[in-house]
Amino acid sequence: MSTQTIQTQPFTGQKPGTSGLRKKVGVFQQRHYLENFVQAIFDALGDVKGKTLALGGDGRYHNRVAVQTILKMAAANGVAKVMVGKDGILSTPGTSCVIRKHKLSGGIILSASHNPGGPDGDFGIKYNIDNGGPAPEKVTDAIFAKTETITRYLISDALDYDIDTIASGTLDGMTVEVIDPVADYAELMQQLFDFNAIKTWLANGHRIRYDALSAVGGPYAIEILEGLLGAPKGSVVNGIPLEDFGGHHPDPNPVYATDLIEHLDAADAPDIGAASDGDADRNMIVGRKLVVTPSDSLAIIAAHATVAPGYKSGLAGIARSMPTSQAADVVAKALGIPAYETPTGWKFFGNLLDAGKATVCGEESYGTGSNHIREKDGVWAVLFWLNILAATGKGVAEIVEEHWAKYGRHFYSRHDFEGIDTDAANTLMSDLRGKLTTLVGTQLANRTVQLADDFAYLDPVDGSLSQKQGVRIIFADGSRIIYRLSGTGTEGATLRVYLESYEADVTRHATPPQEALADLITASRELARIAELTGRKEPTVVT
Ligand code: G1P
Ligand code: ZN
Repeated sequence: MSTQTIQTQPFTGQKPGTSGLRKKVGVFQQRHYLENFVQAIFDALGDVKGKTLALGGDGRYHNRVAVQTILKMAAANGVAKVMVGKDGILSTPGTSCVIRKHKLSGGIILSASHNPGGPDGDFGIKYNIDNGGPAPEKVTDAIFAKTETITRYLISDALDYDIDTIASGTLDGMTVEVIDPVADYAELMQQLFDFNAIKTWLANGHRIRYDALSAVGGPYAIEILEGLLGAPKGSVVNGIPLEDFGGHHPDPNPVYATDLIEHLDAADAPDIGAASDGDADRNMIVGRKLVVTPSDSLAIIAAHATVAPGYKSGLAGIARSMPTSQAADVVAKALGIPAYETPTGWKFFGNLLDAGKATVCGEESYGTGSNHIREKDGVWAVLFWLNILAATGKGVAEIVEEHWAKYGRHFYSRHDFEGIDTDAANTLMSDLRGKLTTLVGTQLANRTVQLADDFAYLDPVDGSLSQKQGVRIIFADGSRIIYRLSGTGTEGATLRVYLESYEADVTRHATPPQEALADLITASRELARIAELTGRKEPTVVT
């Protein structure tokens, strides 16, 4: 066995976004493509000699091939040890947990999150640092810079390593430990939640349906829910990770998890439905005939946090991404703790969590989490809900309705215009930015515009400034229209329009959200001239 030095040259556009480098599988299958990016990671890290890394992915197509390549490259680059999930499987939160628990230098996660998989789907790779969270911009910038000047990569000519057996061994001088992808994570969950209470709740006949959408949440949910908590077999459906996710679009929202919604609408519906995405960092919570919005879920978790042993001494603060509804802010105010508003993307929560300023955080895009790791965490959110149900003896709908009655309801919806022309999308955003100052004080959607700006975030921990994070139109009554372009799509541009209005009057809480938001929706389309500039009258996805 020996190290091979392979001559190569840069590919254009290997720029990692907020969630790493994400491209069509075919792009990753090009000769040297993955290798160049992995070498750029090692080169950007500087000296990787003597370091230990975690490695695994969501099991999508190309996962196994990529794991073998990365193992051989890690060995050739002098990495001391890699902890790799059995079968190449590790969820994003699972990896974060492993990095933190074993004090690793970082980890490489293979995932394109909630994007479809299979030979025609997407693939992705991201690097997480030693706190278990996504690499900050200075690291991803350094990786990108290396991809632009790369001339060679190092790889061992060793044979493929057996990643299907839990054991330790060596690959060309590097230690490889194949680990149970669930064990460390399951142990952490038992520290955070009242497993006995949940066990009793389940033993009393309460039921959960967890749809893993044939993605990586499955092994975690099966082991924890059916194994440790004693939920009947079959409580987790689509629990085996498949390379094409069984054709599922592994995005836990009412549009893609339709089967789950149907089960929760049925006469014999379980008490709670849940789903997670490709890499199990996103979650959706569903009650009987009721989908809990992620913004409400964050607020409700925060309001009930002390029922869970890991949070019994209360929360230091609550953080949410800017487009996420203000429901969490209302809870923070009631609890007398700070509320933080960050740009979209989990990485912005890292500093707040590290500094102990926030304990729980969340995004409207079905992401919820806390300081237990440095990623959002799908299974964690489901366990939190189970703990709340078990501790209160109430149902999901009851919890949600009581929450609205106490704090008011934030009607919320996101309208996505996917795959639009990139130039049109950029024009739309710059046109909007151009008219912001003239909007203040005018009437729109029968409301007065109080503030119109392009969100900028000054990180209270490191003082860094992130600008142009989304156009906000904020009304005097607290309603908001927000526009931003997606940073994670792989085809054309995606315009996201976020709509929110507040309703204190309990007699109006049952209004369907699209109806409650109707005038804001109309105004959002007219103001941005969406149909005119993009040719789209209606959004592709409404959540
Ligand atoms: C989307 C979500 C964002 C999330 C990210 C990664 O990003 O909107 O909240 O952090 O995926 O899961 P976007 O495509 O909007 O840039
Ligand atoms: Zn994800």
